[in-house]
Amino acid sequence: MPNAVITGWGKCVPPAVLSNSDLERLTDTSDEWITTRTGIKERRISHVNTSDLAAVAGLHALAAAGLEPEAIDLVLVGTCTPDRLVPSTATMVQERIGASRAAAMDLNAACSGFLYALVTADGMIRSGAARRALVIGAEKLHNWIDFTDRSTSVLFGDGAGAVVLEAGDEDAGILAAELGSDGSAADILCVPGSGTEGAPSATAKATIIMEGPEVFRRAVSAMGDASVRVVEEAGLSLDEVDLLIPHQANVRIIDATARRLKLDPTKVFVNIASYGNTSAATIPIALAEAVEEGRVRPGGNLVFAAFGGGLTWAAVAYRWGSRVEPIAASDATLPHSTATGVDLMQPNVDLHGTGV
Ligand SMILES: CC(C)(COP(=O)(O)OP(=O)(O)OC[C@H]1O[C@@H](n2cnc3c(N)ncnc32)[C@H](O)[C@@H]1OP(=O)(O)O)[C@@H](O)C(=O)NCCC(=O)NCCS
Repeated sequence: MPNAVITGWGKCVPPAVLSNSDLERLTDTSDEWITTRTGIKERRISHVNTSDLAAVAGLHALAAAGLEPEAIDLVLVGTCTPDRLVPSTATMVQERIGASRAAAMDLNAACSGFLYALVTADGMIRSGAARRALVIGAEKLHNWIDFTDRSTSVLFGDGAGAVVLEAGDEDAGILAAELGSDGSAADILCVPGSGTEGAPSATAKATIIMEGPEVFRRAVSAMGDASVRVVEEAGLSLDEVDLLIPHQANVRIIDATARRLKLDPTKVFVNIASYGNTSAATIPIALAEAVEEGRVRPGGNLVFAAFGGGLTWAAVAYRWGSRVEPIAASDATLPHSTATGVDLMQPNVDLHGTGV
């Protein structure tokens, strides 16, 4: 059976920034509260759709892997904010990037979506059902945010990240993985009315609602427990973990997960200050930045861990391959826009008003 190895990585974050001080004008909050309670300083707001972000991230990952789009036989997009119910965002990406030989599908496990997609693609490659997969996490969450609700509006942002996963003989790939869910707690983080349960006219006002402290408590325990288990199952000791790349939802959740793994802060990748929680996109964006910043070394042992609506959680112990340099670079970019984060939020403000 071949191993499935990450050979390319890339990201796409939209240019418009929404800062904590912008949010102070939209809702009853403060930069000081957001920074100390979450670690977030700013987030990106997209002027394009999820598939556009996903396609650009995917093209960067393909270039890093040195592959043409025709070499890909599976496009898998982890997202809970697809452009449309039908067709899937993955088929839009498939067409946009020219992956003419690829099967394409979306996977929704909310914030755990990228790791669910990575493990799914890994299984397909090991079974022989695919040889080269483009695995993407992409979200345009701001459409679903009510800026009068300060308990959610400060947390989320838009973006996409991608990896290429290829069959290979290298001593690298997923060492152990755990995917979990608990649908009995579905209501503590959800978007009511966003699907068939809502009247068509209600969909426009559907927004993310969340019991923050309860989600926090469960995230700390699920991500921490699952991370420890995959490290054990991989046959690694905790001090053999080189880098934790966790879901970026709250820096206090990340710190708690790192403490469970007894990791020094230098072994934890954190970029939440710049992007907030981009759901399924946080881990592939963080991975792309970690590689670019030289934080991933050849043969390094990585741990990925995520938690999200569903509830879902996931943890993966992964051994990096020998190459940490991209084979090539892509000049793919989003269409130019001068709109600010506040400009792009205006439709939401018109729909819900402001909270101040
Ligand atoms: C949402 C979250 C940041 C709230 O932080 P918290 O420390 O739990 O804060 P609480 O909800 O207990 O609220 C504490 C106080 O701050 C207030 N508050 C909440 N949001 C605020 C905001 N944006 N600005 C200012 N004050 C705020 C609350 O109203 C409350 O005030 P009170 O004490 O007067 O009642 C935190 O619970 C969290 O990160 N939860 C997990 C969220 C998450 O990860 N979601 C995605 C999972 S993938």
